[in-house]
Amino acid sequence: MTNPVLTIANLTKRFGGVTAVSDINLDVMPKETIAIIGPNGAGKTTFYNMVSGRMQPTEGTIMLDGKDITGLPPHKISRLGVSRSFQINNIFPEMTVQENVEVVLSAYHGHSRKLFNIASRNTAIQHEAVGFLKRLGIDSLKATCRSDQLRRQAIAGDRHGAGNTTQAGTAGRANSRDDSG
Ligand SMILES: Nc1ncnc2c1ncn2[C@@H]1O[C@H](COP(=O)(O)OP(=O)(O)O)[C@@H](O)[C@H]1O
Ligand SMILES: [Mg+2]
Repeated sequence: MTNPVLTIANLTKRFGGVTAVSDINLDVMPKETIAIIGPNGAGKTTFYNMVSGRMQPTEGTIMLDGKDITGLPPHKISRLGVSRSFQINNIFPEMTVQENVEVVLSAYHGHSRKLFNIASRNTAIQHEAVGFLKRLGIDSLKATCRSDQLRRQAIAGDRHGAGNTTQAGTAGRANSRDDSG
């Protein structure tokens, strides 16, 4: 019999008198895709925050590959293979797509804390980054960067006479906002 990758048992989160997540039980099997849906305030974000370690559950357990990960900090849970994405992503807009991936890989491999860690000279990280982009079918975008796109939009906007530097500025700021999801 195949074992679940993720087992959530009796997961509950209370904020004072508000029960945000109430007694969730869920198994996720290998290669299974599950969507959690519900209206605003249903508890989706709180659920993901507990699974990814951003919030401690009030009750219940979260098991990953048979290991209890309940209450572990997010960086430990992420290394075990659970991560979450945000409705608005944080990227480095001045860096290319490939460089953004290199930053993540560099941190993942623990190189970011090393003195003289120079990403532009680390060919192993560069190859690994391109490998991920290929796997996602977006390696043709590896040399583009967000701020270039914003500049192009601003120039195109100016040509059409609509005031677009402000728009580009707003998009840049919105981009760095951390949304709770
Ligand atoms: N940090 C918090 N403190 C107090 N109440 C919260 C907090 N986060 C969420 N809640 C409450 O928990 C409930 C579920 O919220 P949330 O998980 O954000 O729902 P969803 O993501 O499904 O919209 C809501 O009633 C919300 O007001
Ligand atoms: Mg939400």
